Amino acid sequence: MRLQRQGEALNVWTPAKLNLLLKVLGRRADGYHDLQTVMLSVQLYDLLQFSPAESGVVRLTCETRFPRSFSVSPVLEVGDRNLVIRAARLLKEQTGTTHGASIQLVKHIPMEAGMGGGSSDAAATLVALNQLWDLKLSHCDLHELAAQLGSDVNFFLESPIAGKCSGRGESIEAIPVIGPLHFVIVKPLFGLSTAKVFQQWGAHRATVSHSMEEIQAALESGSVQRIGSVLGNDLTEPALQLDLRLKAVLQRLASEDVAGSGMTGSGSSCFALCRTAAHAKSVAARCRQMKLGYVYTVTSGV
Ligand code: C5P
Repeated sequence: MRLQRQGEALNVWTPAKLNLLLKVLGRRADGYHDLQTVMLSVQLYDLLQFSPAESGVVRLTCETRFPRSFSVSPVLEVGDRNLVIRAARLLKEQTGTTHGASIQLVKHIPMEAGMGGGSSDAAATLVALNQLWDLKLSHCDLHELAAQLGSDVNFFLESPIAGKCSGRGESIEAIPVIGPLHFVIVKPLFGLSTAKVFQQWGAHRATVSHSMEEIQAALESGSVQRIGSVLGNDLTEPALQLDLRLKAVLQRLASEDVAGSGMTGSGSSCFALCRTAAHAKSVAARCRQMKLGYVYTVTSGV
């Protein structure tokens, strides 16, 4: 994530992620699932603008900057369930601060897309309000709060280009990447609920055979072909069971001459790893003609 001071305000650009590998190990007693996943930050950003508010109240306004084809995308909740509001409230509860803030969220990262947009916004809120309110919470304190907000929030808080994540997803180890890597992302017009996809996993326990170490070695080698050959996601089958329209998107990307392709997180976005930026552009142009959803070209990075 990138922070920039602007007078009394603080602007934060916070990225999306792709899961290059996602293995579900099993369901836990607390209802969550133990995972092994390799996440990669990509340069598609939400922008959050934080300004101090005398009133002590935290107010959120949101603007979506999605293409017109997103008219059917879910409405973004700006009330108590929004992760930005929850992150701000958690900071207030933990520290007892009486500060307030006015937060403006400009959303570019699609929702219900498996790209971590809400989690990324929550991590940005923890970092920004810790500064704006001068709370002096340590990085370690912020990680504890991040884990309470959601399984992907710690990844964005740590903000590596790539990370091996385990536990619920909240335990992060940064790993090096020889990059940049170039992707095409297709976000279908429908979204998928993470909770529902995980519920479906019980009935469709496919197991991806590649390990986190294999993908780590591939990322360190800088060979796009090698990285593409070890992609995998155990949530793909469960997601397909929930919405078969995903199949056309996955098949379209797999039919391209790309290094590899798959679904990110719990979907519904799917991606293809391309050899160069120009290659990604030409794959994206063909995907747009198929009208399978909105098409992005992105590069790895924070
Ligand atoms: O942690 P987060 O709030 O992002 O997760 C959303 C939902 O996805 C959870 O309520 C849970 O149902 C499911 N989930 C899971 N195991 C994980 C992460 C998420 O079952 N490791």
